[in-house]
Amino acid sequence: MLDQIRDIEQEALAALAAASDLDALEAVEARTTGKRGALADVLRGIGKLPGDQRTAVGQAANAARKAVEAALEARRTALEAEREAALGTLEALDLTQPAPGDAPWPRTGGTIHPVQQLIRRVEDVCQGMGFDLLDGPWVEDEQHNFTALNIPPGHPARDMQDTFWLTDGHLLRTHTSPVQIRAMRERTPPIRAVAVGRVFRNEELDATHEHTFHQIEGLLVDREVNVGHMVHVLRGLIAEILESDVEVRLRPAYFPFVEPGFEMDVTYRGRWMELLGCGLVHPDVLRQGGVDPAAWSGFAFGMGIDRLVLLKYGIEDIRHLMGGDLRFLRQFGSGVEA
Ligand code: PHE
Repeated sequence: MLDQIRDIEQEALAALAAASDLDALEAVEARTTGKRGALADVLRGIGKLPGDQRTAVGQAANAARKAVEAALEARRTALEAEREAALGTLEALDLTQPAPGDAPWPRTGGTIHPVQQLIRRVEDVCQGMGFDLLDGPWVEDEQHNFTALNIPPGHPARDMQDTFWLTDGHLLRTHTSPVQIRAMRERTPPIRAVAVGRVFRNEELDATHEHTFHQIEGLLVDREVNVGHMVHVLRGLIAEILESDVEVRLRPAYFPFVEPGFEMDVTYRGRWMELLGCGLVHPDVLRQGGVDPAAWSGFAFGMGIDRLVLLKYGIEDIRHLMGGDLRFLRQFGSGVEA
């Protein structure tokens, strides 16, 4: 028994001396002094020994445990000191020094995200057509995102947009349309405004569905605005954005905040593509915005940006857009440095 204890102790001390990292230390600890370690086994067997041997074996086992524990602590301190020293060398690098000319990494600046590139173009074009740029919060309330847009609680249209609900009736806006309400409440007609930004939907994610994407919302309120005005303005805007002549067509569609409501398709690279939702602002929505529907009318549209970017560059998975992978992003160097 005493021989066995001596062997355990010697094996442990040798292993500790050779241990090169903290994991190796823990392994020695587990198999020697740990609850299921070799010394614990010995102590558990003491009861079976003749009475006159128990004291000697018990004392030897405890002495061995103390010796191993002391060696363990010493080695741990030494290894930790080594690690600190290594970190110290790293931190001693002067990160403000310019990279050497032959640095192994490319010294490129950032590039502008392809979604942001398109957003900037859209904003430019809209400003050129006399629209003001507005901004709205990502965290909206139920009132702006739904109720004021003619989507009262319990309305089935609430289920058409899977919503990230927060607390106290707040939510992540599911579309940019709440900015219509904000624009009308803050301004007096005539109004020409667009808002571009992130929207959020609690969707199953796949190659065509992302929880965060981008929309541009447009609102025009003036005297006797009709569908003809809307088509004319939108066609001009889209042609500028896509930098080509386009044909457009309207299909009737239902959005509670416009009447009549449409989806607009455009020809893009020889094909019809569904591009945006639009329509004449519903009189109740004008009223919610504090605008008198007897005196004013208007049109609104909402267009997704991300799908256009996918089409433009032939990207097959929308999740790349928010993924932040530099290997993806660096392909869109626009010549403009961020
Ligand atoms: N907000 C609608 C959507 O996200 C789009 C839309 C905007 C439709 C304005 C009509 C008028 O689907």
